[in-house]
Amino acid sequence: MLDERIMEVLARLEAEAADERERGVPPKRRSRQVAPTTGRFLFSLVAPQADCEALEIGGSRGYSAIWLGAGVRHLGGHVLSLEIDSYAAARWRENVADAGLEGWVDLVEGDAFESLARIDDVFDLVFLDAEKDDYEALFALARRKVERGALIVADNVLSHEDALGAYSRARQSDPTLSSLTLPLDRGLELTVVLGPPTHDAPE
Ligand SMILES: C[S@@+](CC[C@H](N)C(=O)[O-])C[C@H]1O[C@@H](n2cnc3c(N)ncnc32)[C@H](O)[C@@H]1O
Repeated sequence: MLDERIMEVLARLEAEAADERERGVPPKRRSRQVAPTTGRFLFSLVAPQADCEALEIGGSRGYSAIWLGAGVRHLGGHVLSLEIDSYAAARWRENVADAGLEGWVDLVEGDAFESLARIDDVFDLVFLDAEKDDYEALFALARRKVERGALIVADNVLSHEDALGAYSRARQSDPTLSSLTLPLDRGLELTVVLGPPTHDAPE
């Protein structure tokens, strides 16, 4: 549910992000959170699913995790968010607690490549929002953690088309997936897993 407490934290984080952009804080030190409409879109993907297990790769300060957490709270479920930066992780914990979502969203602090190797869960939705150069390798790891019918959503495919155009083309030409680019905010690649990867399909 999107209650007042959650909306207040989201609004505070939106104001903080706008202020950092205005002051020209370098990207590495900004939250780089998704746009509010992308957050609401993520909420809309998980809220209709009962017992939805969601994985987020690139948690930053918790903005998108809060949207996802509010969504899974609707019909049950859980969000696991992975974040490598210790300052961002500390802020993530504060913000998720402020939103009252501690029971719904957990953080694994550390490098997603190492964390994913230790995680055995199966997810219904994966949100990929880490460094662009890592998308292909992180997609391959995430794909091992999902089954038929899962959704894998990747952000920034239009804002960083040079780096991520190949990511979209690989998903769209893979017959074991159905994938399209949604022109929402920075561009989202929305991929449905139709079956297990074949040997020929890019992993
Ligand atoms: C674009 S920001 C994520 C924004 C967040 N999804 C939101 O909307 O609030 C990318 C984040 O991914 C983190 N990151 C980058 N590489 C990572 C890795 N290998 N493992 C875990 N986190 C990583 C960065 O520290 C950064 O906080």
